[in-house]
Amino acid sequence: MSQRLIVVDHPVLADRIAVLRDRDTSHGEFRQALFEASAILAVEAARELPVVEVDVETPLEATTGHRLPDEIAVVPVLRAGLGMVEGFLRLMPNARVGHLGMYRDEEALSPVDYYERFPPRLGDAHVFVVDPMLATGGSAVHALDRLKRAGARRLALVCLVAAPEGLAAVEAEHPDVPVWTAAVDRELDERGYIRPGLGDAGDRVFGTG
Ligand code: PRP
Ligand code: URA
Repeated sequence: MSQRLIVVDHPVLADRIAVLRDRDTSHGEFRQALFEASAILAVEAARELPVVEVDVETPLEATTGHRLPDEIAVVPVLRAGLGMVEGFLRLMPNARVGHLGMYRDEEALSPVDYYERFPPRLGDAHVFVVDPMLATGGSAVHALDRLKRAGARRLALVCLVAAPEGLAAVEAEHPDVPVWTAAVDRELDERGYIRPGLGDAGDRVFGTG
């Protein structure tokens, strides 16, 4: 099985990515642009959800409609992934939210766990794992490992900016998981930062840089 990579191409999304990349964007503006970009990615990534047919009474007559499935979960990889949650919840208000706490050890560039809390019935849910940055891919691969171990079967990874190295890592370990991204950047630098990238996403979301 080979990876499905969907690079979302939309002028409004491209505009928000330019704002997010700009070093002069304040943390408040960064959060707002991340929220808006995440909502666009949520619409795109939800394209493949199976809908449920329902009977609807309009003011004039009976018809059929289509609703989202009951079990949707959004799982941010902390911290930066938190900045993407609201964009998903605005459009999928009944989604459950799990949390995966990990940070990347900046020497080894490998993920270090610190928190895990998942919703029940993960095996029945359509799970969107959200993290703005896919760099070496260590964090995403580890997040998907943990979710699969907890029973998740229908997973999609949604990020903003992906490096070729991170995409290759996810493809090698989780070829069944589709990846949705707004951009595929050139490369990683020697510190494991995505170039051109947007810097340290967690610091920029929370104003801790
Ligand atoms: C960032 C980002 C990813 C990870 C990507 O988090 O949000 O989780 O790095 O890097 P990788 O693909 O090489 O694993 P970071 O470790 O900086 O933690 P933070 O969100 O708490 O700042
Ligand atoms: N994590 C980030 O926040 N940014 C990068 O460029 C790489 C990892």
